[in-house]
Amino acid sequence: MVSMPSSLVESRRGLGCLQGVPLVSPLSHRGYSSSSHLAEVTLTQERYPVQRLPFAVVSEDDLAVFQRILPGRVVTNPEELVAVNVDWLRAFQGCSQVLLKPRTTEEVAQILRYCHDRNLAVTPQGGNTGMVGGSVPIFDEIVLSTALMNQVVSFHSLSGVLVCQAGCILEDLGRYLEDQGFIMPLDLGAKGSCHIGGNVATNAGGLRFLRYGSLHGSVLGLEAVLADGTVLNCLTSLRKDNTGYDLKQLFIGSEGTLGIITAVSIMCAPKPKAVNVAFLGCPGFSEVLETFRSCKSMLGEILSAFEFMDAECMRLVGQHLRLPCPVQESPFYVLVETSGSSAEHDSAKLTSFLEHVLDSSLVTDGSMATDLRKMQALWALRERITEALSREGYTYKYDISLPVERLYDIVMELRARLGSSAKAVVGYGHLGDGNLHLNVVAETFSTRILGALEPYVYEWTAGQRGSISAEHGLGFRKRDVIGYSKSPAAVELMRGLKTMMDPKGILNPYKMLPSRA
Ligand code: FAD
Ligand code: LAC
Ligand code: ZN
Repeated sequence: MVSMPSSLVESRRGLGCLQGVPLVSPLSHRGYSSSSHLAEVTLTQERYPVQRLPFAVVSEDDLAVFQRILPGRVVTNPEELVAVNVDWLRAFQGCSQVLLKPRTTEEVAQILRYCHDRNLAVTPQGGNTGMVGGSVPIFDEIVLSTALMNQVVSFHSLSGVLVCQAGCILEDLGRYLEDQGFIMPLDLGAKGSCHIGGNVATNAGGLRFLRYGSLHGSVLGLEAVLADGTVLNCLTSLRKDNTGYDLKQLFIGSEGTLGIITAVSIMCAPKPKAVNVAFLGCPGFSEVLETFRSCKSMLGEILSAFEFMDAECMRLVGQHLRLPCPVQESPFYVLVETSGSSAEHDSAKLTSFLEHVLDSSLVTDGSMATDLRKMQALWALRERITEALSREGYTYKYDISLPVERLYDIVMELRARLGSSAKAVVGYGHLGDGNLHLNVVAETFSTRILGALEPYVYEWTAGQRGSISAEHGLGFRKRDVIGYSKSPAAVELMRGLKTMMDPKGILNPYKMLPSRA
């Protein structure tokens, strides 16, 4: 029996598990920052009906062992723990008392071996930008951060294969590759903070999915440490390898529940020689769809992104981030990006596409950019919507895959359903991938609004044979609604895998798989 060390008992009493502590920019991002920093966050265990599982509690002896494994990299200072206990959206808060910062795979292995023996629960954390409460503890799970695992191992300029540690920040990898004439196959608004390990663990989609596809395709190999400390080296850099089950796929999108990803091998793309961005205003959603159809047929292989946002999104990025709308006000906006190898050829194609959509009134106004700064300014309008929304209030977030022609119906239905109880109901997202980000903003969290939204949104999505989690994962927020998108047999098989790989359930408990009824 291990007793609670007095210092931890004291800090628990003193901080009331951190509840109500005003957070001064703990989550500030290099590029983007989260919402009203002074707002208070409620403990997850108080807001939601969840019971702590019988894991051990970290003791002084445990801390001494961690100190021996990670000298000077065991954090117990309550102030430093605030940020790792709260998610980016400030919707979930745990009360972990320990943050571990390994630098090597061997250190991760030693930590997990020990935690497994001691029955201590562990939450892996990358950049803590996840949208579903997966990256923060629910109770007092140990937070294992990959922040110091940020080394590039190798890059091969002929194959385009990058091998790096899991804690490399996505934007840093992009900069590293740019110098060598390559780009990462994924990009997202959180690139300044998110880690490649977190991206792989969530199977992040993002802004380049239309062109480069899923991480299930571009990740060639990975290394992961299993719950008992076993190091699984699947860090191959081969394009083709049909020797047995493709085990790396299990970890892509497993949200820290099956192992801790420590390194990845990823296929990068040559940097396109010519990139153009067009930002267009459309008079209605059917015109957005027709514009997409024209894009696909007229731009073909050079089309690299097709994103959309509605007028409410534009209003909020204008109001909170002071980003001016570059085109005449419209009910919808689309961002079209082309990436190719010949500036002349691409711009001729884009010009004829633009003439067509303007002549046929699919588009009422547009702005085009080839210059990097202007392209970034246009992209910011789309990439920073999440940030603008979080400044508006508490955001109920849905991330759904739907047949593209139905993508906006649910936004309109919810506006009618919620009336004035919501400050904003908005729709935006990766239209080219059939992925809608449906967001409802209210002054604060309320069970009444939640009740109006759920299970309605999930039932509606299931009715369209859509997915209730297109790219953000399930985390804590959506674990109990997995059944809207996966059959009971599939969920049982997932449980079986979890039990086999992590029999004590110490890896990211309370996440992804549904609670037992
Ligand atoms: P975290 O948030 O730290 O963790 C996410 C999950 O992965 C958690 O369950 C955690 O336990 C687990 N995890 C983290 N690292 C590891 C590891 N090494 N091994 C095992 N498990 C691990 N997502 C998209 O898909 N597309 C987008 O376009 C997109 N845009 C975003 C824009 C903004 C502004 C923000 C804030 C978020 C966005 N996201 C998007 C959501 C988010 O999923 C991604 O930001 C990212 O993939 C999470 O990476 P992270 O390093 O922050 O992981
Ligand atoms: C985006 C995030 C929210 O696409 O996934 O902006
Ligand atoms: Zn997205």
